[in-house]
Amino acid sequence: MSLFRLRTAVLALALLGTGCESEAPFPSEDELDALNTLHTPSARPEVDPTNKWGDNPDAAALGHRLFEDPGLSRCGTVSCRSCHDGEGYTVETPTAEGCGGQRTERNPPSLLNAGYNRWFMWDGRADRLWSQAILPLTNPVEMDSDAVVVRARLVAEPTYTAAYTQLFGTSPADEQDGDRLLANVGKLLAAYQRTLNRTDAPFDADVRRFLQAVQAGTAEQDPAYLGLKTFVRKGQCVVCHKGRALSDDKFHNVGLKDPGAGKRGQADAVDALLSWKFNAAGLFSDAPAGTDAARLSALHTQAQSKPEEVVGAFRTPSLRNVALSAPYMHTGAEKSLEDVVDFYNEGGDADGTFVGVRTETIVKLDLSSEEKQALVALLKSLTGVAR
Ligand code: HEC
Ligand code: HEC
Repeated sequence: MSLFRLRTAVLALALLGTGCESEAPFPSEDELDALNTLHTPSARPEVDPTNKWGDNPDAAALGHRLFEDPGLSRCGTVSCRSCHDGEGYTVETPTAEGCGGQRTERNPPSLLNAGYNRWFMWDGRADRLWSQAILPLTNPVEMDSDAVVVRARLVAEPTYTAAYTQLFGTSPADEQDGDRLLANVGKLLAAYQRTLNRTDAPFDADVRRFLQAVQAGTAEQDPAYLGLKTFVRKGQCVVCHKGRALSDDKFHNVGLKDPGAGKRGQADAVDALLSWKFNAAGLFSDAPAGTDAARLSALHTQAQSKPEEVVGAFRTPSLRNVALSAPYMHTGAEKSLEDVVDFYNEGGDADGTFVGVRTETIVKLDLSSEEKQALVALLKSLTGVAR
């Protein structure tokens, strides 16, 4: 039982004891604390010490051109943009098409605010934005590329060569270490993606206004009341979708139907990340040696000691800009935000349609249609302003 539910239940019991039938006023002290952490994120992601070029405008400009260049793929037809396009930097289908018409296993996430994430990919296979880029580049289903193809493309385009040499002090032709070349290209792509931020959303103004209404004792009259109350109390959404990104940066099994090969989620990603030469504790990080080693070993310990927590677990996605990235979930199975809310209202998909153990917070919710609509409106209010 979560702390929230526990305290709310205790409070409700206490009230029942006094013969009072109405539930505790919203928000309680704990709920107020949670609301305070949800709004008004910083306009830029935190500096990434493992990428020296992360906030360099020249790196971002070159990264932007590379992001759109299908010449980095072996088949010559697939760029990052092919699967991360439009306002939401994603596709409108459950999966996307890579080299030779092959389909990806999972739904491409939006790249908006990707610089704020602490883990990447649905299963957390990458721990930094720059190293993540090496995965689609070299994935046979996506861009099917390698250092030879990437170097040839950089060398063939004189403006790429000039900008790369300026930034890294070595020309792509002279960069003998293919891994170093891929890491550098990842750092350029990350510098570009770190500029794709949409933070300031109507949601933030709503929460700030609601908090003032709480002070004034008029919370119940506020238009955001029902949505916030359902998100925080009855829906339990805030147990996982917390903080300014509305994500706890953790992995959970929400009981989502997945017949695919990647259904084990984080359980199959931890060892791969720990032994990956491009992880943040490795040679290609620009931070002092051993940075992130503790973070990675904590991951290892968790996977070893509580295997039931990683099987079928996927990353809690940020809910910022979520209206721009339908369809939803790692499978792309939920077509709309209404469908996602119905999914949670049912307590997830049927037992036996996913692996592992559904986490205890995911239970039937019995939401009224007003509560469902208020949740959907809250989710839609998280679309930030493009800067
Ligand atoms: C063929 C389609 C395809 C291509 C091409 C592609 N991606 Fe993706 N991208 C995906 C899919 C699918 C995922 C989710 C994969 C998973 O989690 O298993 C993803 C995940 C990501 C993520 C993780 C986001 C997050 O929040 O975890 C980032 C960042 C990203 N891609 C950037 C890129 C970059 C940069 C390129 C070009 C080098 C690229 N992608 C090329 C389909 C694609
Ligand atoms: C136990 C933690 C947890 C709780 C509670 C929770 N979520 Fe989630 N949420 C997740 C995880 C994990 C995913 C990704 C699941 C997957 O794809 O397998 C997700 C996915 C989503 C998505 C899809 C986002 C996308 O980009 O595809 C939305 C929308 C969402 N949740 C909203 C909600 C709402 C609304 C509630 C409350 C009714 C809620 N969540 C409760 C953890 C949680």
